Amino acid sequence: MAEPLSIPSKKASKAEQYRSLIPQIKALVSGEPDFIANIANVVAALKEAMGFFWVGVYFVKDNELVLGPFQGPVACTRIAFGKGVCGTSWKEKKIIIVEDVDKFPGHIACSSLSKSEIVLPANHGDEVFLVLDVDSERLSEFDDTDAKYLNEIVKILEAL
Ligand code: SME
Repeated sequence: MAEPLSIPSKKASKAEQYRSLIPQIKALVSGEPDFIANIANVVAALKEAMGFFWVGVYFVKDNELVLGPFQGPVACTRIAFGKGVCGTSWKEKKIIIVEDVDKFPGHIACSSLSKSEIVLPANHGDEVFLVLDVDSERLSEFDDTDAKYLNEIVKILEAL
């Protein structure tokens, strides 16, 4: 049986929540060699601990992004290179924070409830092999703290 996550009280800051979660994510993936199983558990842990509206990955496959393990409402399955926030993060190889999705040209709305978003690319060498996408029902949910700690989680995915 998987150990239940230990989740700090609701009063904890976002940084404290991430700092509690990251070692638990490392423990969750250690000893399990299956890549998909590990990614599935990482996104489930993020959803459970952080309460995100939608969190998941898109894999780079045959020069497009294809939906991978996620938690939240059903989502678009394929995204072209350079399209939407995810395709832009892939193309530009950088973290993108969107405070208001309606103001991001070309944003792809998988759910009308999503209001803000952060997307982080994960690389093998110089090549992006997946993007981690997190959506919120609130405007301006994500900031540099999310970028810092979610990027630590991306580094765990890169090392799987
Ligand atoms: N909004 C993303 C699409 C993926 S969903 O949010 C799950 C985008 O613009 O790339």
